[in-house]
Amino acid sequence: MEILTQVSQAFTDQRPGTSGLRKKVTVFQQPHYLENFIQSVFDAIPDRAGKTLVLGGDGRYFNREAIQVILKMAAANQWGEVILGRGGLLSTPAASHLIRHYGARGGLILSASHNPAGPDQDFGIKFNGENGGPASESLTEEIWRRSQEITSYRIARFPAVEIDREQEISLGNMRLRIIDPVRDYADLMERIFDFSALSALLQGDFQMRFDALHAITGPYALEIFEKRLGAPAGTVQNAVPLPDFGGGHPDPNLVYAKALADLLLGPEAPDFGAASDGDGDRNMILGRGIFVSPSDSLAVLSAHARCIPAYKEGLRGVARSMPTSQAVDVVAKSLGIEHFETPTGWKFFGNLLDAGRITFCGEESFGTGSNHVREKDGLWAVLAWLSILASTRKSVREILREHWQHFGRHYYTRHDYEELPSDAAQAMMAGLQAQLTVLPGQHLAGREIRIADDFSYTDPVDGSQSNHQGVRLLFDDGARLIFRLSGTGTSGATLRIYHELYERDSSRLERDPQRHLRELIDLGRELSRVEHLSGRKAPTVIT
Ligand code: G1P
Ligand code: ZN
Repeated sequence: MEILTQVSQAFTDQRPGTSGLRKKVTVFQQPHYLENFIQSVFDAIPDRAGKTLVLGGDGRYFNREAIQVILKMAAANQWGEVILGRGGLLSTPAASHLIRHYGARGGLILSASHNPAGPDQDFGIKFNGENGGPASESLTEEIWRRSQEITSYRIARFPAVEIDREQEISLGNMRLRIIDPVRDYADLMERIFDFSALSALLQGDFQMRFDALHAITGPYALEIFEKRLGAPAGTVQNAVPLPDFGGGHPDPNLVYAKALADLLLGPEAPDFGAASDGDGDRNMILGRGIFVSPSDSLAVLSAHARCIPAYKEGLRGVARSMPTSQAVDVVAKSLGIEHFETPTGWKFFGNLLDAGRITFCGEESFGTGSNHVREKDGLWAVLAWLSILASTRKSVREILREHWQHFGRHYYTRHDYEELPSDAAQAMMAGLQAQLTVLPGQHLAGREIRIADDFSYTDPVDGSQSNHQGVRLLFDDGARLIFRLSGTGTSGATLRIYHELYERDSSRLERDPQRHLRELIDLGRELSRVEHLSGRKAPTVIT
């Protein structure tokens, strides 16, 4: 096999963000751009020789081309074996599982998650380590450092590999195993959940819709819900992954999964609806006439975990990202288990999961998961909800109502201002930071600010420290107002404002969150000066 050392020059924009490197497809298509980044990842893993690499992506535009390049570079960089999902496909949680299941050194997941796909849209690459989880901050820094020093990359020469059938072949000294992207993951779900109880539910009067939004979860959902659990044909909609996701925006929320939301909140609603995102790690849960906020979802799943066979002994602990509502903390206190508050991004849960300190974790951004993999897992969350419905025989609405009556309700909403000019967004954050010292003690939005800070986190397992993780205003009645800039966008900057208010009065549990949080929403707009600095009168997305 011929191996070429190609001379190349560093690109200055290859610093990985919240979840890997995300850029426009046209950026990745520049000569040597993809190759430089892959070489930087490989260089940051000096012990890779002879080891296994898992590879696959969400099927978006440029996935297939990138797979061919990565196979050639893996063969030239001493990897012993690549395990590739057939068709170049793997959902993020399935990739995480395969890394663990086959004892791989890591995996490359090709995805820009829920960002739209197509020639003028987004592409992305994430590296996950041997625990199956996103690369640690120190590894991503090392990748970034390497990408700035790179002068050449190594690539083998061979014809394009046929990736659409399961096969095992040798590429020089490297073995390539192309496997069914779904089977091992579906087997894992079968070990976690009670599939006979779920079959009984789905084959009875219960009606469910799962919208795969033409992204990666289609084949997984068809296999699990329709094939293994026997739900009626048509339960899974938009099941064929398309390179442009059918022109949609596969982010499972009320804005982008509108058809599903309209169905569940309309007159012909089935009992249960769910959707996942581009790469299958996010989830949205809806009941007939009701939306479950992701923060509430984590709390409800934690409170009911024992009805799922894999968690019948109870949970070790739980964790949530800082902007996620404190609903799960209240459940943890009542269960007498530890709870943790981490910065935004799944990578911060990895150490807690590996150390056995937590079993469930989640983020307000439609991410929920457990210790079964090291990524958030959309279908896992759907199966967990179905398990609660099967075991309690209650509706989603009843379950939520009872939860709020028992634990109180954390009203919650996030307002995003997308594609802001970067300097305006920086000015908003700087303005907020400048106010931190004068805000404590002030009475605003009808309550007193107790603490105003920029969130810092010390990892309780390895002691590593992460600073500047978002501006927090904590009020004396438990309310919170949080501001941070997105680390996943590909154009301009996105300001996220998170609003939370704890309500225990049982007569005030079923209000419209946007109305109930109005004072905090107004305060967030005022303090950030978003309208003054950007001219935006309203957020782009409200979740
Ligand atoms: C967003 C979410 C965050 C999630 C990440 C990857 O990151 O807010 O919770 O982990 O996507 O799915 P952000 O754009 O806010 O940096
Ligand atoms: Zn995703």
